[in-house]
Parts: sequence; structure tokens; C-alpha cells
Amino acid sequence: MKIILLGAPGAGKGTQAEVISTHYDIPQISTGNILKEAVRNETELGLKAKSFMDAGALVPDEVVIGIIKERLQKDDCAKGFILDGFPRTVPQAEALDKMGVTMDKVIDIEVSDSLIEGRMTGRRVCEKCSASYHIENNPSKKGELCDKCGGKLIVRKDDKPETVKERLKVYHELTEPLKAYYESKGILAEIPGEGTVEETSQLVFKALEA
Ligand code: AP5
Repeated sequence: MKIILLGAPGAGKGTQAEVISTHYDIPQISTGNILKEAVRNETELGLKAKSFMDAGALVPDEVVIGIIKERLQKDDCAKGFILDGFPRTVPQAEALDKMGVTMDKVIDIEVSDSLIEGRMTGRRVCEKCSASYHIENNPSKKGELCDKCGGKLIVRKDDKPETVKERLKVYHELTEPLKAYYESKGILAEIPGEGTVEETSQLVFKALEA
């Protein structure tokens, strides 16, 4: 099963990717998480990416394409994988095609811009494993610590309201055209993502098993 999760920042891609990854036992490949880890570790990649990410802009295509090319060669991708946050531009989607990767399904999670802002302000992420929570809608059972690894839960730097606005603008301009790109390949499924996490998961699995 090779799956792409599309959707605006905060639509729930990371949340649903975790559920799908557990269900099918396939890896969740999040370019956002890979980049954030590189920033934390102050690697060459992280130093290159940081200013773009803090401003809510996209990291240059060639950088993320390189990350994905390398990641997809790892053994755990043999059974399938979930791409969470990649591709994000038409050139990135074309690069995936050129790598010879044939995707089975593209799930587009639709959430209005107005709802996104509330989700971002309540989001907490694990500083160790990047698992995503929401203080009201999807809290950790361990309070300020991560359910999965016990790491500390923190607020993301790019979840400030003005940065969220910029990320939404970038999404509409550069990422939304991917819906038409994958619709023309006959593999796009659009699902509403404004219900609860569980309701959205049910819709995701229905679309994946259709
Ligand atoms: P990335 O980390 O991918 O950020 P994003 O796409 O902006 O997505 P988010 O992680 O903000 O949201 P999400 O859809 O995963 O939602 P989540 O499940 O957390 O990328 C960060 C940056 O890296 C980018 O800005 C860019 O600079 C760079 N980057 C990454 N990939 C790139 C690429 N391919 N090309 C170039 N640059 C790239 O949910 C959000 C919140 O809502 C959580 O608190 C969650 O608990 C809650 N929630 C989720 N679902 C529900 C629900 N159904 N009901 C209520 N609450 C919910």
C-alpha cells in the first residue's frame, strides 16, 4: 500500500498517518518531521531548512526530493509507506513519478481555514518522537508527556497565528494544485476532515479500502 496524505497544514495528516501506519504496519514518512529533526540536531540540512520553516515557507524542492529519494530506498518501505507532507508542489509530484514510484491512493483531508487556526493553537508535539496531540481534541493520557515515548510535549514554533496564515497561503498557491494532478490519474479521494479524529479515520479507511 503506497499512500499520499494531502491537506492543509493542521488538516490532520500527521494524526491520520499514525493511525494508518499502525493499522497496515507500514512506515509514516513525514518530510516535516525529518526536517524538524535535522533542525534540532543542527545538521547541514537543518541549517539550510530552518529559516524557510520558521517563516512558514516551503523548503526548496531539490532538498526535499533528495530526502525522499534516500528514505524510499530503506528496507522498511518494501511493503509500502505513507507520505505525509510530500509531495507539496507539482515539481515534487513529478519527481516522484520520475523515481518510478507508483502510488495507490492519494487521500486529501479537507478542513476549512477557519478551523485550522484553532487546531494549531491547541496542538502539542512530542519533542522526541514528533507524535502530535491536541490539548482538547486529542490529549495525551500522560498530560504534558507523550503517550508513546514519554517525551516532553511542546508547542511548535511555526504554530504562531501569523505563521499559520502564511502556511495556509502557501498551501493554497502551491499544494492545492496537486488535487487536480492526482485526480487526473484517477487515484484521488477527497474526505471531509472536520469531524473527530476517529470519524476522520473511518472515512480514511473507507476510501483506502474502496
Ligand atoms: P509539516 O510538519 O508537514 O507541517 P504541515 O503540513 O504544515 O502539517 P502539520 O504538521 O502542521 O499538520 P497536519 O496536517 O499533520 O496536522 P496534525 O495531524 O498535526 O511541515 C512543516 C514545514 O516543513 C513546512 O511548513 C515546510 O517549511 C517544511 N516542509 C515539509 N514538507 C515539505 C515539502 N514536501 N516541501 C517543502 N517543504 C516542506 O493535526 C493538527 C492538530 O489538530 C493537532 O493538534 C491534532 O491533534 C489536531 N487534530 C487532528 N485531527 C483532528 C480532528 N479530526 N479533530 C480535532 N483535532 C484534530
